[in-house]
Amino acid sequence: MANPSILILPGDGIGPEVMTEVKKVINWFGEKRDLAFDVSEDLVGGAAYDAHGAPLSDETMAKAQEVDAVLLGAVGGPKYDTLDFSVKPERGLLRLRKEMDLYANLRPAQCFDALSDFSSLKQEVVAGLDIMIVRELTSGIYFGEPRGIITENNERVGINTQRYTESEIERVARSAFELAKRRGNKVCSMEKANVMESGILWREVVQRVHDEEYADVELSHMYADAGAMQLCRWPKQFDVIVTDNLFGDLLSDAAAMLTGSLGMLPSASLGAPMANGRPKAMYEPVHGSAPDIAGQGKANPIACILSFSMALRYSFDQGEEATRLEAAIEKVLADGVRTADLLGPEGGSPVSTSEMGDKILAALDASL
Ligand code: IPM
Ligand code: MG
Repeated sequence: MANPSILILPGDGIGPEVMTEVKKVINWFGEKRDLAFDVSEDLVGGAAYDAHGAPLSDETMAKAQEVDAVLLGAVGGPKYDTLDFSVKPERGLLRLRKEMDLYANLRPAQCFDALSDFSSLKQEVVAGLDIMIVRELTSGIYFGEPRGIITENNERVGINTQRYTESEIERVARSAFELAKRRGNKVCSMEKANVMESGILWREVVQRVHDEEYADVELSHMYADAGAMQLCRWPKQFDVIVTDNLFGDLLSDAAAMLTGSLGMLPSASLGAPMANGRPKAMYEPVHGSAPDIAGQGKANPIACILSFSMALRYSFDQGEEATRLEAAIEKVLADGVRTADLLGPEGGSPVSTSEMGDKILAALDASL
């Protein structure tokens, strides 16, 4: 049987640096665990714009549709800020999400024991934190029509449309309930049903899917603003949070910061199963391209490496190997190894991006 295939899209900024470390980890699994992957690599974001004048070429899009999983680094940078909206680096990422129909974006916020004093919140509030945000990723205000900037009564008007169909809400709700069953069996759904019709429908449909198919999972509803407040007040009350595209964007950044560093958090974007039974899937760190530190070997590769670990779990049915990788990372952190983003105000001496990768490989070796 052919090896499972992975398309790597390093992208911009720190993307290529952190992806170099992921490639080392992928090779390790090939050499030491007999888990070989067919890896190919291509351009996305500003890097693709520089090469082809578009943030994602049709050829790359077609490749992404064929592989078993896409691993993406990060897109964007100040160099591209003045580009026309239609060719901005972010459009490449959004095209991948939309055309692959990756409707369920899983963003875990997990607090590693070794870093529990690193959050801006009190240790007791975050120690042991393990929540999963399921963000709808292919609809809502990110993609709704009409959109644009028009002129009306001699002034410009910016327009975006929040829009959700019942089936779009149903399928992401199912993803959330399915995940909850394998975790803490609790789902909190967040919208603004107090001011938005799309929120009223969201709440109704999530409740119906629950009552008809997942009555044994505990379900609650919260307005998204109150949800943001509760996330900061007592995040451990949550298990799975399901929410729309825009609220999910905001809430997942907030949840990420609870754990101390954006440099730690992976994500999986999943769609419907392909012919081989694997879900359409793209894995990427939650952090961005961090142009301020790009090219300096300062970036933390852990979020991107953990994204590969999610790929092992969700695309390749290798949960045990994913756990091995996560344990190796935990070990390295427990040993006090820190990239610059993981040093508190008292400082210390950080390791470089590639040193962090090497430490993780060493911990993987030790796990054998
Ligand atoms: C994210 C990012 C993206 C988003 C950007 C880069 C388009 O913030 O993945 O959270 O807004 O979805
Ligand atoms: Mg975001």
